[in-house]
Amino acid sequence: MSIVLDEYANSDALVSAFSHKLASILKQSISQKGSASIAVSGGSTPKPLFQALSQISLPWNKVYITLADDRWVDATHEASNEKLVKENLMINEASAANFVSLVTDDGDAKNAESTIAKRIQSIDFPLDIVILGMGEDGHTASLFPCSEQIQEGLNLQRKLPVIATQPTSAPHQRMSLSLASIVASPHIFLHITGDKKRAVLETALANHSAIEKPIKAVCDNSTVNLVWAP
Ligand code: 6PG
Repeated sequence: MSIVLDEYANSDALVSAFSHKLASILKQSISQKGSASIAVSGGSTPKPLFQALSQISLPWNKVYITLADDRWVDATHEASNEKLVKENLMINEASAANFVSLVTDDGDAKNAESTIAKRIQSIDFPLDIVILGMGEDGHTASLFPCSEQIQEGLNLQRKLPVIATQPTSAPHQRMSLSLASIVASPHIFLHITGDKKRAVLETALANHSAIEKPIKAVCDNSTVNLVWAP
């Protein structure tokens, strides 16, 4: 449907402004309904944002933090997004926040979809905020164009809000929010940096189908706040 561009001169300016914008939305949700929920993405881009957001004072004990996706690994594994969030966001003021894991100790993520769905739907759902990243292949969360599950992951009629995916271009089985659960959020942010990813996004939106570039599926079905710095 539309993209609202928030462009910053550099990453530091982006992190400062974006962290305060997120804090403001969380505070507003808490004042309106007593709690707030936010799904964040993994990868390298969000780390400075997490550290800045963690230092902002707000009623973190009323905030539920979850993930847009996680790798199907133990929470102590170096590839774990849960580990990334606990080490970089749930510190300082934000250490009082509640975390909702996307992972169980089941050997196959597919068997855990219903369990994780219940967890996600037991907090403020639809999620108040979803922060997405994007890979250079146009994937977002763990909705990978290369995975066999992409058609179902983009199915807006899908009942379960999460889906187990197996990318061929990246390691580990994943648990991901479905497209339907992402676009149900009133505040969707796509946080990317650099000219290359900006070009990937523009090409995806202009020249590709949603199944080829899943980030397009999000942009076609919601208003996405693009938060970008060179
Ligand atoms: C993950 C993320 C994924 C990420 C992109 C961008 O688990 O890897 O959720 O969707 O947002 O791959 O990652 P970078 O920020 O590291 O480029």
